[in-house]
Amino acid sequence: MSVFNASRLVGKTVLITGASAGIGAATAVLFAKGGSNVILAARRTDALKAVAEACTAAHKESGIQQGGKFATVQLDVADKKQIASFIDKIPQDLRSIDILVNNAGFVLGVEKVGDISEADMEAMFTVNVFGLISLTQLFIKDFRARKTGHIINIGSVAGREPYAGGAIYCATKHAVRSFTGSLLREVVDTPIRVTEIQPGMVETEFSVVRFRGDKAAADKVYEGLQPLVAEDIAEEIVWAASRPPHVNIAELYVLPVNQASPTISFRPGKQ
Ligand SMILES: NC(=O)c1ccc[n+]([C@@H]2O[C@H](COP(=O)([O-])OP(=O)(O)OC[C@H]3O[C@@H](n4cnc5c(N)ncnc54)[C@H](OP(=O)(O)O)[C@@H]3O)[C@@H](O)[C@H]2O)c1
Repeated sequence: MSVFNASRLVGKTVLITGASAGIGAATAVLFAKGGSNVILAARRTDALKAVAEACTAAHKESGIQQGGKFATVQLDVADKKQIASFIDKIPQDLRSIDILVNNAGFVLGVEKVGDISEADMEAMFTVNVFGLISLTQLFIKDFRARKTGHIINIGSVAGREPYAGGAIYCATKHAVRSFTGSLLREVVDTPIRVTEIQPGMVETEFSVVRFRGDKAAADKVYEGLQPLVAEDIAEEIVWAASRPPHVNIAELYVLPVNQASPTISFRPGKQ
């Protein structure tokens, strides 16, 4: 049985930030498979194009006739000017967005408070919090006017429980959780849906970025247990988006079976 009701996704237009890799890329491909149109946004244009090609192949394979339009738009969500002119860069026929997936985000370092650089602190807040809020502000008025729309924010286990060595990242994801909660309450009198997905460990480029390119250090994070993969979270995002219009999946907290919190995990493969 399919994890999603494809008929509810057919012909929908989905905008995904951070669609060049990991969870965002896997989500784009799964929406494509469900017959949606997808706008893929991120900084790396070559990677976006490769994901768009994978979307085209997935859509073709699905045999669904509708949807299947894929556009790539270079976007650094930390750049206010790029956000301000973002809609103009979307092809005219895809400007009516139905689902916004605010996925772009990252963590840098494991430094403790006192040793965190101003640059890292600013970078994480600018992307994970301000970028997500600015993108939401860009589309919420249109959603209200059209009496439709679904905003899916990617939070984290780090937004539910802080851990040592992650003060700024945890603070950004707590901010995402709080912002999403306020938004949910503000649109209660509309058909707009608001969802927060909170993943635990997902093996993507995430830890490589955290350890500034040190692949060996990144691999250690997942040593001895089976982490989630990007496709696992993509399934949850697409599942939430494909519920009937009167159903709002407000939160989904998704962990690998051997993880119970940011710091509690069981590593059966590590003796
Ligand atoms: N992996 C995990 O364990 C985990 C757990 C919980 C939550 N999350 C969250 O899941 C989301 C996706 O992470 P992931 O695991 O898929 O990591 P990933 O593989 O590193 O992908 C991150 C994506 O974000 C994009 N991005 C980063 N900075 C950006 C910027 N300034 N402007 C636009 N796009 C930007 C990257 O694209 P470009 O570099 O091309 O811009 C990339 O497509 C993040 O919000 C992360 O916090 C991840």
